[in-house]
Amino acid sequence: MTPTQLRTVVGPWHALEADIAPLRHAVFVAEQGISAHLVCDAADLTAVHAVTYKAQGQAVASGRLLVEAPGVGRIGRMATAQAERGKGLGRQVLHALLDAARERHDHEVMLHAQSSAVGFYLKDGFTARGPAFMEAGIAHQEMMLALS
Ligand SMILES: CC(C)(COP(=O)(O)OP(=O)(O)OC[C@H]1O[C@@H](n2cnc3c(N)ncnc32)[C@H](O)[C@@H]1OP(=O)(O)O)[C@@H](O)C(=O)NCCC(=O)NCCS
Repeated sequence: MTPTQLRTVVGPWHALEADIAPLRHAVFVAEQGISAHLVCDAADLTAVHAVTYKAQGQAVASGRLLVEAPGVGRIGRMATAQAERGKGLGRQVLHALLDAARERHDHEVMLHAQSSAVGFYLKDGFTARGPAFMEAGIAHQEMMLALS
């Protein structure tokens, strides 16, 4: 896939839920065994969401940006369809969310990374903060990125 065959949309939950919810279900519930009730929550209603679509309109990657504290964004629910990983789609979503955080003048973004995904965030300049911990039965690491 070339970047021209991909389209990333940033918007609110009511506009994107129908595309994001099945993707999250496939990745977090069917693949990772996380309880379905944890996958979508009330925070989605106020979050900024990013979704990357293939040319045919299939949603293949998504993530969300919340307000953690004044000036601090929180990225979460990052998911790329299993068959589409390693093609730069997760990075495209992450960059769209970082752009959204910069546009609202956040000075920092943080996230709770699954341990297996720490390397993905390190590639974009995030650093680990504090010890690893368990969340939804999966080992996590808090990470942060200062925004310029
Ligand atoms: C983590 C995830 C979102 C990454 O999405 P992706 O579309 O495969 O990532 P990209 O292809 O954009 O990868 C960007 C770079 O990060 C690297 N990378 C991707 N996943 C990685 C991982 N788990 N560990 C280390 N590096 C990783 C890629 O190799 C690529 O490096 P490059 O620029 O040198 O080529 C995806 O693997 C996923 O959905 N995993 C299951 C759900 C999950 O764990 N979500 C994260 C919760 S915190």
